[in-house]
Amino acid sequence: MKIIMLGAPGAGKGTQAQMIADKYDIPHISTGDIFRENVKKGTELGMEAKKYMDQGLLVPDELTVKILLDRVAKPDCKNGYVLDGFPRTIPQAEVLDKAITELGEKIDYAINVDVPDENIIRRMSGRRACLACGATYHIEHIPPKQEGICDKCGKELVQRDDDKEETVKNRLDVYHKQTQPLIDFYTKQGVLRTVDGTMDMKDVFTAITTLLA
Ligand code: AP5
Ligand code: MG
Ligand code: ZN
Repeated sequence: MKIIMLGAPGAGKGTQAQMIADKYDIPHISTGDIFRENVKKGTELGMEAKKYMDQGLLVPDELTVKILLDRVAKPDCKNGYVLDGFPRTIPQAEVLDKAITELGEKIDYAINVDVPDENIIRRMSGRRACLACGATYHIEHIPPKQEGICDKCGKELVQRDDDKEETVKNRLDVYHKQTQPLIDFYTKQGVLRTVDGTMDMKDVFTAITTLLA
């Protein structure tokens, strides 16, 4: 099963993608996580990506597309995957489409996790992330068992550099201008499904699994 998660920054794409990946035993591929890993390791890619991420801007397509295509070509993707944060522009969606079509395959679902902007800014300030395994928490809604420590891998949780209120506002602007048009793109392909992302995360997940069943 090949799934794309769509939605504004902080809509819960990563939270839901991880649960989908666990349930269906497919890899969770987040371009944001890949960039953050590279920033942490101080690679050339990481240093280049950080310039854009810190401002809430998109990393240029030239850098992003290659990374994603290399990743989905790996053997663990043969039974499908859940993409989180890619595609984010029409050109990215077109490149992905072409690559998948060439393999005689298709995207099964694009799941739009719908959350209004007002809710987003509140959510982001409470988010804590594990840079080691990609798990996401919220200090009020989804706290880790032990404060500041990842339940899954035991590493330290951090607040993301781009979760400052000003940067979140920029990310929302960028989302509306550059990413929202993908809703049309996947509606036309007949694969778009929208879920109400303001519900409790378990209810959002139930709505998604009902769609996928
Ligand atoms: P990326 O890491 O993808 O960030 P994003 O899209 O802004 O999305 P987030 O990860 O912030 O939010 P999310 O929807 O995953 O929500 P989460 O589950 O964490 O990208 C970061 C940057 O990398 C971009 O700005 C860009 O610069 C670059 N980049 C990445 N991909 C790119 C691409 N393809 N092209 C170009 N540039 C790219 O949830 C948010 C919070 O809410 C958490 O604290 C969570 O615990 C909580 N929460 C989740 N669900 C619920 C719920 N139902 N109720 C209450 N709280 C909830
Ligand atoms: Mg995310
Ligand atoms: Zn972890």
